[in-house]
Amino acid sequence: MDIRQLGINPHHWYVVARSSELQTQPLSVTLWNQAIALYRDSTGKVHALEDRCPHRHVKLSHGRVNGDRLECAYHGWQFKSSGECAAVPYLAANQKLPNCKIRSYPVTEQDGFIWLFPGNVETLDTTSIQPLSISEWEHLNYIATVSTIECNAHYSFLVENLMDMYHGHLHQNWQAWTDAVLEDIQEDDNRVDAHYQAKSYYKIDKIWAISQLFFPALRQLHPEPLNVSYIYPHWVSTLGQYFKIYCLLCPVNQTKTRAYLIHFTSLNAFWRLHKLPVGFRRFVKDSLFGSAQKLLDGLVRQDVQMIEEEQQAYLDHPDRKGYELNRALVSVQKLIKIQAERGLN
Ligand code: FES
Ligand SMILES: [Fe+2]
Repeated sequence: MDIRQLGINPHHWYVVARSSELQTQPLSVTLWNQAIALYRDSTGKVHALEDRCPHRHVKLSHGRVNGDRLECAYHGWQFKSSGECAAVPYLAANQKLPNCKIRSYPVTEQDGFIWLFPGNVETLDTTSIQPLSISEWEHLNYIATVSTIECNAHYSFLVENLMDMYHGHLHQNWQAWTDAVLEDIQEDDNRVDAHYQAKSYYKIDKIWAISQLFFPALRQLHPEPLNVSYIYPHWVSTLGQYFKIYCLLCPVNQTKTRAYLIHFTSLNAFWRLHKLPVGFRRFVKDSLFGSAQKLLDGLVRQDVQMIEEEQQAYLDHPDRKGYELNRALVSVQKLIKIQAERGLN
């Protein structure tokens, strides 16, 4: 089957929102054609229900949270986090609660994001299938910036973009690296690791080096290993020891993909900083949060444009083949096929 038509393997944890996006109001998200209502109960714990009131099939996410239940906006029916109807406000004394359970999804909050498991719950072995760990999120030595990717394209186009380091050409003033050369690939049924050698523009070894993020003229080219990994269904990259980037995917449907790009700048080289009180280090981390925003958003805009053009070209001419020279992309497509097939079983 054509790779651009393939589904996802639902037996993985996907990211559906940032923690900060879900406050007291329910939030509607879509993961691979499934509309899902997220909400927090009275203790702040996140729950995920099918975003459909079984009474008249309107969106439950338009309702509100009532105690630990989600209440529909239309007639006020209430639902437990298990998906069972728990109350109908106008139920007569001789009427029973309707037996109209809706689907609930396993959901968890970890490292600043809300992770959801859309697969069959019986197949969820929580010891072997877990959300990707983003240890830098809490670590005091890493400064985070998050950019949201919304692109009208099949997720395979995004993953291929992220795994193809020969596209530094696109980024001109924004680029962090140049002259990438693919050296080696490791792959199995769950991941592809591509190792490139590249030249990096950044060296975050002095405190003033942070200003390289704002003043491109301060950058100096030097060789660094550039590793990119597709750890199905997400992506991780390191450029030398100073940068780590994650891309957490939420494929919306066959022609739409949402993702979060998280860029971490390491302060590991500043040993003096590490001797300061934890409260101060947290203050530094929090006040520098988002310091690479302009850079990251700029990169995302350029990538999204290319990815959407690829999707459009595919829709216009589905049979037209490209000329791919990067063997990492062959591995990526193979993995997407293996996983999509698994998802069917
Ligand atoms: S449609 Fe939801 S309560 Fe009636
Ligand atoms: Fe890019």
